[in-house]
Amino acid sequence: MVEVKVCVGSSCHLKGSYQVITTFKELIKKQNLEDKVALKAAFCMGRCASGIAVTVNDEPIENVGFSNATEIFNQYVLPLTK
Ligand code: FES
Repeated sequence: MVEVKVCVGSSCHLKGSYQVITTFKELIKKQNLEDKVALKAAFCMGRCASGIAVTVNDEPIENVGFSNATEIFNQYVLPLTK
């Protein structure tokens, strides 16, 4: 199981973390990855200054924004589900 956490703390929320969650959810559904990817909302991860805080299997991913959420998913999450 790949564990993806997206911060929904106030700073990340303002940057659009809910849109990132929505995008991730859609991608997971579209590709039938519900039993391979666990998507979780997390509280402030202490990285408020660097984009929306996302971790994949506890590895922090940098520079996540709602505009590149699909690319981030394809680059960091998808390979781990194979
Ligand atoms: S609010 Fe997201 S890391 Fe602080």
